[in-house]
Amino acid sequence: MLNGRKIVVGVTGGIASYKSIEIVSRLKKAGASVRVIMTESATKFVTPLPFREISGGPVVTSMWGEPTNWNIEHIALANWADLFLIAPATANIIGKIANGIADDMLSTTIMATKAPVVLAPAMNSNMYANPIVKQNIQKLTNLGYSFIQPSYGMLACGVEGQGRLPDPVFIIDTLASLYGKTNVLCGKKVVITAGGTREPIDPVRYIGNRSSGKMGYAIADQAAKMGAQVVLISGPSNLSIPNGVELIKVETALQMKDIVLSQFSDADIVIKAAAVADYRVQNAANHKIKKSEDTLTLILEKNPDILLELGKRKTHQFLVGFAAETQNLLSNATEKLTRKNLDMIVANDVSLPGAGFNTDTNIVKLLYRTGQTEELPQMSKTSLAKIILDKISAQIQK
Ligand code: CTP
Repeated sequence: MLNGRKIVVGVTGGIASYKSIEIVSRLKKAGASVRVIMTESATKFVTPLPFREISGGPVVTSMWGEPTNWNIEHIALANWADLFLIAPATANIIGKIANGIADDMLSTTIMATKAPVVLAPAMNSNMYANPIVKQNIQKLTNLGYSFIQPSYGMLACGVEGQGRLPDPVFIIDTLASLYGKTNVLCGKKVVITAGGTREPIDPVRYIGNRSSGKMGYAIADQAAKMGAQVVLISGPSNLSIPNGVELIKVETALQMKDIVLSQFSDADIVIKAAAVADYRVQNAANHKIKKSEDTLTLILEKNPDILLELGKRKTHQFLVGFAAETQNLLSNATEKLTRKNLDMIVANDVSLPGAGFNTDTNIVKLLYRTGQTEELPQMSKTSLAKIILDKISAQIQK
């Protein structure tokens, strides 16, 4: 399931460093390409030789060695990797990454990469329980780093507690479940729209909607983590750009249409999570409208339906729409699925608490062109993003 992944394994210095040899070996057997970076202290526990033999490539141990080629090595590896695993991860490397310290090859490469980073801490249980270590782990988790919890058991220092590096098989299985089975999206071009459009009334006013972009950004973030080439076309949003995602900003529905169509022909999957304004103001004023009369009449004209247009042009693309409804959810969503020639539609009743616009959670039903329907419980938009992409992966594999 990790077949074809490009994984950099960082080995830091601990009694468990020798287990990393088995980890590298198992990753290779799973079909991954592996490069190894060892910290200086790791080389005190185990030599680079077995890593070189098993990974089939040079092992990087220092920033100051004579480079084998003139690529700046930490940038080259940071760009090459589509996944980083640090196992074992000492309290020291966790602390360095959490605090922006880049003073050796491993910490520098980690700082330069956009690939997801998974850390498997291993240390004395008191160190692991130390509030500073806990805070560093929490900080990194909030920033999107993943952790594989250490196991309980007898530690090298003779005490029993949580701090052992888990079995290499468990580490590989966890990696595969986090990043492996998503392999089907690896290298696929996924175009995602997010946020609401703004339709100008005059230079200072617009008609907008309550969409925050959270759902679309969560899908973009997850798709990038799954190895896809992601283009995110977003209406105005305050959300930060997910790692590894190309962001194209737009304001109006017409701008969104132009960009989406220009990205469509070589896209493999298109997910339209944006809340596109159905109407725009006819003859928006070039100057600020002054208040004079008691009433102001705006004439609205229909915007093109971008998704409908994509449905007409579709050749090989897997097309996913969203349906924001406040009544007759299933029948309205089914009608949109058919009329817009979609492969799947994510239907949400935006009137439910915990669903729809500007919330962190969503409650949806997934409808497929086959007529199949799946009802999902309330969950975070991040979790839902992963499920949507897993379902798409399963569909395009059929
Ligand atoms: N959509 C689009 N272009 C539009 C309007 C909607 O591409 N001008 C897309 C949305 O991104 C979404 C899907 O169509 O994926 C459904 O949007 P929704 O607002 O639920 O439905 P509409 O088709 O606009 O119909 P209505 O507003 O009447 O419910």
